[in-house]
Amino acid sequence: MTEHIHFGAVAMAPVPVLPDAQTVTFVRHWTDRLFSFRVTRPKTLRFRSGEFVMIGLLDDRGKPLLRAYSIASPSWDEELEFYSIKVPDGPLTSRLQHIKVGDQIILRPKPVGTLVHDALLPGRRIWFLATGTGIAPFASLMRDPETYEKYDQVIMMHTCRTVAELEYGRQLVEGLRDDPLIGEMVEGKLLYYPTTTREDSPRMGRITDNLTSGKIFADLGLPPMGAAEDRAMVCGSLAFNHDVKAVLEKFGLHEGANSEPLEYVVEKAFVGDGI
Ligand code: FAD
Ligand code: A2P
Repeated sequence: MTEHIHFGAVAMAPVPVLPDAQTVTFVRHWTDRLFSFRVTRPKTLRFRSGEFVMIGLLDDRGKPLLRAYSIASPSWDEELEFYSIKVPDGPLTSRLQHIKVGDQIILRPKPVGTLVHDALLPGRRIWFLATGTGIAPFASLMRDPETYEKYDQVIMMHTCRTVAELEYGRQLVEGLRDDPLIGEMVEGKLLYYPTTTREDSPRMGRITDNLTSGKIFADLGLPPMGAAEDRAMVCGSLAFNHDVKAVLEKFGLHEGANSEPLEYVVEKAFVGDGI
């Protein structure tokens, strides 16, 4: 069977209908480097909040060009949301940034990942530590009732260079209060701590520095992090992940996995910057 499909901004010749094609239902551009979009959800797709899937478009030769993307929507949502960088020369995102409502993308329905509740031992507080698009898995986890059932306090630290880069996360957190499903659960439990590093804003500084100096604990009225009560999930650049792991280890937390739940887990927000 063949039919004309409009993949991204590129009008394609007749191609076989892909079983993994999903339709774009919403697109919003946040900055010239960041956008979010929603697509239809395959009826059979089950995932745990925090996991990622492979998504993409067909390349010029009609071959799938796929990249890993955290699902930013919670597991109960009827659609799937993604939050994306725009890399100017990036093979995928130089094209993906042009998608419009009604376009189709490829989505391989095989969710995986370490940023899941099952990979952590029970605790009192959960820390979500993200830079840049690394907030995507936490956009899912912050909207999942399980997060608030499992923990007394949920601390979302998100750091970007500029205020505009924080906006997707800020609006998401603000919207949670009015969310009919989890609005009440979130109230008083979710502590949002956004910071910038290269533009003035009410809160400044790298996550690593705010943890090491103790500023975050003083600002939020929390005790210093420790293995008995605190759990953490980390998602950012390789350099960030590397440095924040060292900080968490100093607080006595140990890295866990799906197969061996411990006190913190880490996922790359992207690959390609060394270390
Ligand atoms: P690529 O050739 O893949 O990347 C080119 C360069 O751009 C990289 O070397 C890197 O320096 C830079 N880069 C790539 N992605 C990012 C990013 N997110 N932030 C800053 N710099 C970046 N990307 C998202 O935008 N949203 C996600 O939710 C997301 N989830 C991911 C989950 C996992 C587990 C992994 C491994 C990657 C994830 N990525 C995510 C990155 C994504 O897979 C692609 O790298 C990205 O979409 C760029 O694709 P590209 O083909 O345009 O460029
Ligand atoms: P900084 O501006 O001080 O480099 P990027 O846009 O380069 O991916 O960075 C996103 C955010 O993550 C920036 O605020 C940046 O701070 C911060 N960051 C980058 N590398 C690290 C690191 N190794 N440890 C802590 N924060 C980092």
